[in-house]
Amino acid sequence: VVENGLDGWLRYAALPDEIRHKHRPYSSIVALENAETSPVYTAAKELQDGLDRILGHKVDITFTLSNTANPAIVVGTLHAFSTAGGSIDKIPELKEDGFWLSTKGDAVQILGQNERGALYGAFEFLMMLAQGNFSPVAYASNPSAPIRWVNEWDNMDGSIERGYAGPSIFFHNGKILDDLSRAAQYARLLSSIRINGVVVNNVNANPILLKPANLQGLRRIADIMRPWGIRIGISLYFDSPRDLGGLPTSDPLDPAVVEWWKDITDQVYRHVPDLIGYLIKANSEGQPGPLTYNRTLADAANMFARALKPHGDGLVMYRAFVYNHHLDESEWKNDRANAAVEYFKDLDAEFDDNVVVQIKFGPIDFQVREPPSPLLAHLRKTKAVIEFQVCQEYMGQQSHAVYMAPLWKTILDFDLRVDGKSSLVRDIVSGERFGWTRSGYASVVNVGNDPTWLGHHLAMSNLYAYGRLTWDPLADPATMVEDWTRLTFGLDKTVVDTITKISMESWPAYENYSGNLGIQTLCDIIYTHFGPSPGSQDGNGWGQWTRANAHAIGMDRTVATGTGNSGQYPPEVAAVFENIETTPDELLLWFHHVPYTHRLKSGKTVIQHFYDAHYAGAATAQTFPTQWAALKGLIDDDRYNHVAFRLAYQAGHSIVWRDAVNGFYKTKSSIADEANRVGNH
Ligand code: GCU
Repeated sequence: VVENGLDGWLRYAALPDEIRHKHRPYSSIVALENAETSPVYTAAKELQDGLDRILGHKVDITFTLSNTANPAIVVGTLHAFSTAGGSIDKIPELKEDGFWLSTKGDAVQILGQNERGALYGAFEFLMMLAQGNFSPVAYASNPSAPIRWVNEWDNMDGSIERGYAGPSIFFHNGKILDDLSRAAQYARLLSSIRINGVVVNNVNANPILLKPANLQGLRRIADIMRPWGIRIGISLYFDSPRDLGGLPTSDPLDPAVVEWWKDITDQVYRHVPDLIGYLIKANSEGQPGPLTYNRTLADAANMFARALKPHGDGLVMYRAFVYNHHLDESEWKNDRANAAVEYFKDLDAEFDDNVVVQIKFGPIDFQVREPPSPLLAHLRKTKAVIEFQVCQEYMGQQSHAVYMAPLWKTILDFDLRVDGKSSLVRDIVSGERFGWTRSGYASVVNVGNDPTWLGHHLAMSNLYAYGRLTWDPLADPATMVEDWTRLTFGLDKTVVDTITKISMESWPAYENYSGNLGIQTLCDIIYTHFGPSPGSQDGNGWGQWTRANAHAIGMDRTVATGTGNSGQYPPEVAAVFENIETTPDELLLWFHHVPYTHRLKSGKTVIQHFYDAHYAGAATAQTFPTQWAALKGLIDDDRYNHVAFRLAYQAGHSIVWRDAVNGFYKTKSSIADEANRVGNH
């Protein structure tokens, strides 16, 4: 077996013989649906394949319940099961995409609220077996939110924005690839973590996607993904009516523009009748948008929404990432972090019901540490999804191992206290807090055609954990990485413990050697977003400023003397961030401009914390290659060597980070390191 990573966590490695032999073979897999395009049929095939690989059992698929000899595995929808005479009395209520899994009794029951749910249940069962878990279970599992999507940032030329793992698995040379087999394999992985939507092209969208030949190609992508319970959507370029359609304007209120989008939408649906909708990046980073034509963001969103409406349940995901990237740093009160609330808060009642605002988790841009976006506390009538980034744009770009589930949990578990009531971010995006029916999650996932998918085998735990958190945001990061490790690398305790330890140490270490106390990832900000370059943060229009000078550092985001950003949070949270005493140390420099000699709650000064944290973070990264070395011979050599190489790089690069950042602030502040390390190598 070549361990190239293509199967990700769905390797279904053979269990040891002593476990296999204990297990009596199942007599059959009863699929309550026989159409080959049905996710139920996919589930049956997956069960057949999985049982063969995990247990060495060859089990036939049949299609009628009455034919079963026990013990069989029954997979289908609740409805099909009861129609076929099965009893569903004891099964708790299932939500859309939910499932019931019971291994108690005569037969294994895998019953979905819909066909997708049945497939999810089959994966759940197989992933239990693959971990050697045969305990009898009987439970219902339901998603926290209906929208559980990923966004690919793939360009039509086959390159990928912020992609670190080879060219696109969808596009090449302005067209959809002829061979979409990797797209099908990707759909299998996504389905197993219960992702139900994929937006296939970059938010910086190219209108040529809408040309007839490419709509044919989109149809092929949709057809390949549908049996996995996945629907596709597309990103649109706002100025397409001008660019592609030859119209004089793209004004969203111009009748010819409205008609043009309606016609395009009709064409798209002729090829993809179950499109999930459109993703829109407009008036952002130089992109055109409604503001270009003196219209509101809602005017644009609603124009797309009305084009989609007649076709079914398609949604407009309108990105809140609207900001001016030529911001003047000489104005103390300018703040990019304020942009989303300023643009969207007065529009809450203006959006049509099939518009969802897509909000990056923090106010800036996927930094190593951010507070939650304050916009999450402003939309009540308008539904929202939160946007994460499995792709590690600011997090070491898959050259560093950084397990991000603990970071995402800081956001999901944050209580925004809207109207003085419990308002956890996870309860807002689930729809529970404001009674939304369509809301949830999106994440940028820049898989490429490298066999590792993301460029680093360990990076796949981020994709796995993202999917699981969309289903259950209470899932524990350590437990998720343990499960992922068993599925990906095997059941050996040393393997599981070592990878879990490295993973759980990785984000704190990365924060320590990249950017501390809420100052953001101090990377090159202009082009690559990789490697240390604290000086590049300031003196440009991007607004990811640190405002570091010879005496002080940090953004003053207070209402009293700064940009007023703290005041965008509900009063109880605003009070915490407004006051330097109550602001947690990890966000101190996000909200306050303080002298380098300011004392933290730990008793250290800011500058000494920088020095110490950079040494501590780099020291932790130094242990990764040695921790990993314990796995030699316990996992296959291919993946062992791949990860060993990456961890050695990370260990070295963490020292580059440490010395560059520490040296920069020592020069800037002229304050020596108490331990006399900085500048003395
Ligand atoms: C970041 C990223 C861009 C991307 C943008 C977005 O700024 O660097 O490459 O286009 O986010 O989310 O739209």
